[in-house]
Amino acid sequence: MSTTGNNSETKIIDGKKIAAEIRAEAGEEVIELKKENIEPCLAVVLVGNNAASKVYVGSKVRACEEVGIKSIKLDLAADISEDDLLSEIQKLNDDSGVHGILVQLPLPHHINEERVTEAIDPGKDVDGFHPVNVGKLSIGIDCLTPCTPSGIPEMIVRSGIEMSGKHAVVIGRSNIVGKPMMNILVQKGAKANCTVTCCHSGTDHLAEYTRQADILIAAIGVPEFVTAGMVKEGATVIDVGINRVEDPEHSRGYRLVGDVDFEDVKEIAGAITPVPGGVGPMTVAMLMKNTVKAAKMLQHS
Ligand code: GUN
Repeated sequence: MSTTGNNSETKIIDGKKIAAEIRAEAGEEVIELKKENIEPCLAVVLVGNNAASKVYVGSKVRACEEVGIKSIKLDLAADISEDDLLSEIQKLNDDSGVHGILVQLPLPHHINEERVTEAIDPGKDVDGFHPVNVGKLSIGIDCLTPCTPSGIPEMIVRSGIEMSGKHAVVIGRSNIVGKPMMNILVQKGAKANCTVTCCHSGTDHLAEYTRQADILIAAIGVPEFVTAGMVKEGATVIDVGINRVEDPEHSRGYRLVGDVDFEDVKEIAGAITPVPGGVGPMTVAMLMKNTVKAAKMLQHS
């Protein structure tokens, strides 16, 4: 394996710029829908006071404003009963003016997330977490797909990198990223058609797999886990992690790092996403796309 790397040639994939392009495209589609008297509308449900969730929900509502999507924000108390939350979701399901429903996770411990996810109308499930959408994705039927993994092929292809025929290795098997990522990458089509390997906490000799990746996607939630020795020279490295690490020199007392040791890996990768400014902004942009898609699906149903 080379130890020299190719730092001068490494492409830093600009997630902010690509996300802005996608939001602009969604905005164009919204203008067309409004000509047909359809105003796409996203309902965002926040339960309790989780500080990170509040930040995420705020950025989703702001993106809606920018793109021209109407948003409804439901701020529900942390001690709301599961039944009351389910009846709020039912009201949104029944409201023909609402096209997308997103319940921000995690939920307080007394609420069963699975039951809540399954209560959302699959046609309005802009997170793509409902088992109907999970099943459709796995058998290649067009559907609403999870925002974070859906944004990753967009970043790769819009950076001029070919995906078809490449070996993609996903580290992580969560229902939000790892598993849907595998299902997206394996489908036929220009923005997929990969040979897919999934590694996880049970994988022996992990680096033997990651070093074979043309496209390496890290979604494990362990700060700076992926180092240069785990990466093939010239690989495309996508970092899904957002981890807080203590840093007394930073005004907030912490800094944000990904699952990839960026400074180390950029010496060997062909292309790499930074944290922040990589995958993060893409998630919200894909949510805008999904909301528009849900509005179009409802229009044609
Ligand atoms: N919490 C962390 N990521 C997500 C996401 O993609 N959707 C929702 N609803 N909650 C989250």
